[in-house]
Amino acid sequence: MYYRSSDGQQILDACAGLWCVAAGHCREEITSAVSAAMSKLDYAPTTQFAHPLAFEAAAKVAKLMPEGLDRIFFTNSGSEAVDTALKIALAYHQARGENQRIGFIGRERSYHGSGFGGTSVGGVSVNRKAFAGALLPHVHHMPSIHNLEHNAFSRGQPTWGAHLADDLEKLLALHDPSTIAAVIVDPMAGNVFIPPQGYLQRLREITAKHGILLIFDEVITAFGRLGKATASAFFDVTPDLLTMAKAINNGTVPMGAVAAHRRVYDTIIANSAPGEADLYHGYTYSAHPTAAAATIATLDLYQKEGLFERAASLAPAFERAAHALRDAPHVKDIRNLGLCAGIELESRPNGIGERSQEIFDGCFEAGVLIRHAGDFVAFAPPLIIEEAQIEQIFDTVRKVLMSVK
Ligand SMILES: Cc1ncc(COP(=O)(O)O)c(C=O)c1O
Repeated sequence: MYYRSSDGQQILDACAGLWCVAAGHCREEITSAVSAAMSKLDYAPTTQFAHPLAFEAAAKVAKLMPEGLDRIFFTNSGSEAVDTALKIALAYHQARGENQRIGFIGRERSYHGSGFGGTSVGGVSVNRKAFAGALLPHVHHMPSIHNLEHNAFSRGQPTWGAHLADDLEKLLALHDPSTIAAVIVDPMAGNVFIPPQGYLQRLREITAKHGILLIFDEVITAFGRLGKATASAFFDVTPDLLTMAKAINNGTVPMGAVAAHRRVYDTIIANSAPGEADLYHGYTYSAHPTAAAATIATLDLYQKEGLFERAASLAPAFERAAHALRDAPHVKDIRNLGLCAGIELESRPNGIGERSQEIFDGCFEAGVLIRHAGDFVAFAPPLIIEEAQIEQIFDTVRKVLMSVK
């Protein structure tokens, strides 16, 4: 649960590194599996064939995915997983003879990584600005689901806002649904934007109606963050493609993946020409033996220690502790789901982000690592956290909030 700073102070990790370290730091079960893999097989390609650890890791990941999404494509990061999912969507429609489906729909303020595909479907304006002229064409964005007027201080899923999914129908009417390959959303975003009740269900209905693939970007939600293996399981909405990374192997070795519905996979395979690759896409380090070994050991550990269930059982205490800061200075919104919470702060006039930087610094000095961006701070601790540590995090934040101007 802890880092140690360069001056020797113990720092409680309130954000699992960067949403990665779900089982806590330096777990011997994982490091010894990685070490054993490295001494046995340092590298092997996984393009035309693969090594046993790659298959074992794929089978273990597939077991945790929603029904039907049992075909796994390994990447080295969440960004690569997103770009891979977008390319699979295009390949799927091409295999079905619908070559005109080349458009994508993302959502304002969603983050989908740093690749050109992810930046294009992403809706974070500062991330797009320097590259705006060269992003993918045929990409449109639904409006953000963030609305403080209706949903500030919601506990869990807000009740207001399912109708925001109907904006997808408006976009489709404008751009012609038969030209759209996929809709991509993060079921819960890193800035803790939580889908209103019924919103994801509605997106699923609309995409299915128009033959459009639905991609859930679960880079931060897969592997227990919401108390289930996936956000898809938590919300009971099944996408066609699901991207993951980070907690897939507890952040130990770079790895991401896409889970594709068997129907999508079979369509692409059935239409590939004999002697040709099924999908001309892949990475040198896909399913690297160390990453695969780390994944196998990590997923075993999650199961052995019941960490997804643990996250679910701690979620009410986490919610109570986070929302207890409602009356603290500068607090504009608190939102939470599973073992995850975010606090939005009033910005200083002409000083956006200053307050959250000071809160980050103050918490660090007081021995707690949080995450901040803009005037927003996020909490997503390892799933092994104890209730006393939850109290410590939010008590520290309260004290620092009181001291910041
Ligand atoms: C939802 C989402 N998608 C994609 C990414 C990109 O992942 P990576 O940084 O591993 O490339 C992130 C990273 O935080 C993310 O939160």
